[in-house]
Amino acid sequence: MYSDFSFPSRNIHLIFLFFGAIIAGRATANDQINELQSKKKIPYDPEIEAAVMNMVKNAGYVLEKHIVETDDGYLLTVHRLPNASGSPIFLQHGLLSSSADWLSLGKEKAFPYLLSNLGYDVWLGNFRGNALSKAHVNLSTDESEYWNFSWHEMGIYDLPAMIDYVVSNTNKKAIYIGHSMGTTGSYVMAAERPDMQDKLKLIISFAPVVYLAHIKSPLRLLAPVSDELEIISKTFGYNELFAADDVAGVLLRHSCSSNIVNGDLCANILFAIVGFDPAQIDWEQLTTIAGLTPAGSSTKCFIHYLQEVEPNQFRQYDYGAFDNLKKYGTLTPPKYDISKIKVPIACFYGDNDWLADVGDVKRFYAKLPNGISIQRVNLTSFNHIDFLWAKDAPGLLYDPTIDIIKSFD
Ligand SMILES: *[C@@H]1O[C@H](CO)[C@@H](O)[C@H](O)[C@H]1NC(C)=O
Ligand SMILES: *[C@@H]1O[C@H](CO)[C@@H](O)[C@H](O)[C@H]1NC(C)=O
Ligand SMILES: *[C@@H]1O[C@H](CO)[C@@H](O)[C@H](O)[C@H]1NC(C)=O
Ligand SMILES: *[C@@H]1O[C@H](CO)[C@@H](O)[C@H](O)[C@H]1NC(C)=O
Repeated sequence: MYSDFSFPSRNIHLIFLFFGAIIAGRATANDQINELQSKKKIPYDPEIEAAVMNMVKNAGYVLEKHIVETDDGYLLTVHRLPNASGSPIFLQHGLLSSSADWLSLGKEKAFPYLLSNLGYDVWLGNFRGNALSKAHVNLSTDESEYWNFSWHEMGIYDLPAMIDYVVSNTNKKAIYIGHSMGTTGSYVMAAERPDMQDKLKLIISFAPVVYLAHIKSPLRLLAPVSDELEIISKTFGYNELFAADDVAGVLLRHSCSSNIVNGDLCANILFAIVGFDPAQIDWEQLTTIAGLTPAGSSTKCFIHYLQEVEPNQFRQYDYGAFDNLKKYGTLTPPKYDISKIKVPIACFYGDNDWLADVGDVKRFYAKLPNGISIQRVNLTSFNHIDFLWAKDAPGLLYDPTIDIIKSFD
C-alpha cells in the first residue's frame, strides 16, 4: 500500500517561517484583540497565526484578522484579504484543517490570492476547535464540555456567526466555498437555519461529504465500532481529536513536523487516508503546509462521520437509543432535510477521492432542489487534499470555479 517517494532535503523555508513568525508576531492588534488578550481568551495559537500572517505578507498581500463569537460562546478567527469594493467570497476549510491550508500553495497558485487578484473580498473561516479557533467565553479547552461539538454545531452556530459577520460588514450577499467538512457544515446550516440562505448567493462545494457508503479510506474500518466510540466518549467525555498529548496526535504531528526525515511517513499517513496522488504534491511545499497542520478538532466530529457510514444517512448525532429519545424524541437521530436546501449549489469531485466518493456525491447532488452543476476534476488521480494542495489545482479546479463565480456575480 505504501509507495516510495524521494524528498528534496531542504529546510530553507522553515527557517524563514521561524524568523518570519518572530517578526510578524508584533503586527496587527486591534482593540477587540487587546481586550481578549487581557482576558486570556485569544482563540489562535500565536505561533501559527504569526506564521500565517507572515506567509501572506511575503506573498505581497494584506491579511486582516477578525474574531467572531458564536451564539454558544465559541471564539473563532476569521481571516480576510480585503477589498471593500469587491464582492465577498467566504472560504471554509475541512476536518483537521484551518484557513492556512487554503494559502499553502503560495503566491501564484493559492485560491484566495487568485480571487483577490480578481478584485473579490476574500474571507477565510475557522471552525471551533482548530488551532486558530480555540477559545470560549466561559469554557476552557481543558474541559471536555468545550469539546462537546460535531459538525452539527459548526453548521448551526459557527457558519451563521461568521457569515452574519461578513454580510453585516460588507452589506452584500456572499458566495460560500467549502471543502470537505466545510461542505458538510454548509448543508447542515442550509437545512437547519434556512433563514441563512438569504445571505448567500451561491454555495460551491469542493469534495462534498454527505453520504459515506462508498468511502474507500481505511477510516471506514472504524465505522462498525462507532457505537462503542460514542459510549466511550459519553463516559469519559468528548475530547480533542489528535490532541497534542495523545498517541495518534504525537505520531501525526511528529511525522508531519519540520523533521524532513519523517516526511515520507507523514505523506504515507496522509495518502492512506485521502487517496494516493504523489505527483500533484510539491514536497518542499508540504513541509510548510505540515508545519501548520493538523489543526485539530473534536473526536465527536470524527465519530459523527463514522456514524453515517452504515445507515447510509445524513442525520444528526447518534447518542444511542435512550439518549436519542430524550434529546430528539425518537430512537434514531433525525435526518437533515435536504429538500430545504434552496440556495444554488455547484459541486466538484475527484475520481480518486477516498473520502468523498463519486457515487456518494452524485447521490447527494440528485436530491438537491437547486443543484446548478456537478463537475469532475479532469485528472484521474485527483484526491481529497488535491482540492487545496495540488500543483495543478489552479487550471484543473480554480479556473472552472471562477467561471461559475463570474456567472453569478
Ligand atoms: C457565560 O457565563 C455567563 C456568566 O455565568 C453567562 O451569563 C453566559 O450566558 C455564559 N455564556 C455562554 C455562551 O455560555
Ligand atoms: C477591488 O476590487 C475592484 C473590483 O471588484 C477592483 O477594481 C479594485 O482594483 C480592487 N482593489 C484592490 C486594492 O485590489
Ligand atoms: C453535549 O451537548 C448536547 C447538546 O448539544 C447535550 O445534549 C449533551 O448532554 C452534552 N453532553 C455532555 C457530555 O456534555
Ligand atoms: C482533460 O484532460 C485531458 C488531458 O490533459 C485533455 O486532453 C482533455 O481535453 C481534458 N478534457 C476537458 C473536458 O477539459
